[in-house]
Amino acid sequence: MKSCGLRLCLLLTLTLTLFDYVTCAKILAVFHAPSFSHYILGAKLLRAVAEKGHHVTMISPFPLKDPPKTWRDIVLEDYAKGFNFGNLLNLATMSGYRKEITVNEVGCELIRRVATHPSFIGVINSNETFDLIIVERFMNEAILGLSHRFSAPYIVFSTIGYSRWTNDMVGNPGSTAYIPDLYLHYGNNMTLWQRFHNTFFYCFANLYRHFFTLPKQRSILKETFPYAPPLEDLYYNASLILMNTHVSIKYAVPSVPNMIDIGGFHVSPPKPLPKDLKQYMDDASNGVIYFSLGSIFLSKDMTPEIRDIILRVFSKFKQRVVWKWEDDITFSSPSNVRFEKWISQQDILAHPNLKLFITHGGLLSTIEAIYHGVPLLAIPIFAEQFMNAAEIESLGYGLKLYYTDITEENFSHLVNELLNNAR
Ligand SMILES: *[C@@H]1O[C@H](CO)[C@@H](O)[C@H](O)[C@H]1NC(C)=O
Ligand SMILES: *[C@@H]1O[C@H](CO)[C@@H](O)[C@H](O)[C@H]1NC(C)=O
Ligand SMILES: *[C@@H]1O[C@H](CO)[C@@H](O)[C@H](O)[C@H]1NC(C)=O
Ligand SMILES: *[C@@H]1O[C@H](CO)[C@@H](O)[C@H](O)[C@H]1NC(C)=O
Repeated sequence: MKSCGLRLCLLLTLTLTLFDYVTCAKILAVFHAPSFSHYILGAKLLRAVAEKGHHVTMISPFPLKDPPKTWRDIVLEDYAKGFNFGNLLNLATMSGYRKEITVNEVGCELIRRVATHPSFIGVINSNETFDLIIVERFMNEAILGLSHRFSAPYIVFSTIGYSRWTNDMVGNPGSTAYIPDLYLHYGNNMTLWQRFHNTFFYCFANLYRHFFTLPKQRSILKETFPYAPPLEDLYYNASLILMNTHVSIKYAVPSVPNMIDIGGFHVSPPKPLPKDLKQYMDDASNGVIYFSLGSIFLSKDMTPEIRDIILRVFSKFKQRVVWKWEDDITFSSPSNVRFEKWISQQDILAHPNLKLFITHGGLLSTIEAIYHGVPLLAIPIFAEQFMNAAEIESLGYGLKLYYTDITEENFSHLVNELLNNAR
């Protein structure tokens, strides 16, 4: 009798263990922003989930390279085709107000295209089931209809950290008295006037959203998911928010317990650089400056005058320079500057001779540089880069220079400061 009980117990334990082993979730993720840096974050996060055995279906503009077995791509082919941002340099001088309006308009148009894309429609009309929805937060309230369609809770991923984009979803306070808005360029030590303007801008952004953006999102929701509840019921129902930031690189901000900082998760252990580039860096006895303005605004989009100012300044330094330049070289340059069409950024940042990173101040570049302990000179161009640049300077891991302020004197002064100030 006793041994029978024992056997039953064993069997039960075994069965339960087995159950645990075979439990995996079906996850539907949407990272629709047509920007590769947004995609990288989503892909890295979801790959880790899929490698744990969960089934991941990812809707995005890009396919994944060598995907895990439990991975399925639904590629939004050509959906952002024909988008013309005009001259990207105009973005560098655009006011916060204009930026807010532009991003909202572009965001609504993008989500309308996603919602009407045959691949997306295919998923919502299928008889598939999902246990969890993960969406990137990018002007896409209407997409939350997926949560209702599949009766699944949803997680939001924020590429930009704490902001008015996600705070209100979970009732997180974001005081305008000391937290600068993402489209302004204030640090966290604002003057009274800046605090006032920050608050005024917050009101403007919310009113604009209320009267212009949300009505569009509601109509997209209604057309795509006819049986969905009102947008607000979905919007205020997030289960978890994953923040691409970290307490160590951020001002002190309030955070409710279901907002989790995961910033830095996309940083990978360094891989070896291409042989000749590695040699070039190894031989740089005075160190190397790395220059890259990211993947949207390209170095070749700079005006020739600014490019020549930068080259003249570089020629005065002993350091070697590696410059990410995406086009053919049709101009003369000093002998200490080397151009590369594409560089594996994390690997070059990991090189011990790297002394300075001149960047547009995107959040990914910033996090990677902090991880590898490289000081930054931020030249913000668009989106939330002005806020990032102010933060970089406020928190002391770099300096900033506006594109429109680039002069030989200014640029040279800051590069010199960053290379020689031991702080
Ligand atoms: C789902 O639809 C496919 C055909 O589109 C069908 O073969 C399959 O049996 C359906 N599955 C369920 C669970 O209804
Ligand atoms: C809110 O989320 C919960 C838990 O996922 C779910 O049961 C509920 O139906 C959701 N409400 C709406 C309006 O989607
Ligand atoms: C904030 O700025 C004021 C002047 O605007 C300055 O006196 C003060 O020291 C600054 N505080 C910090 C923490 O930087
Ligand atoms: C140099 O930069 C500072 C601060 O960024 C700016 O106020 C100044 O106008 C710049 N000087 C020139 C000559 O552009």
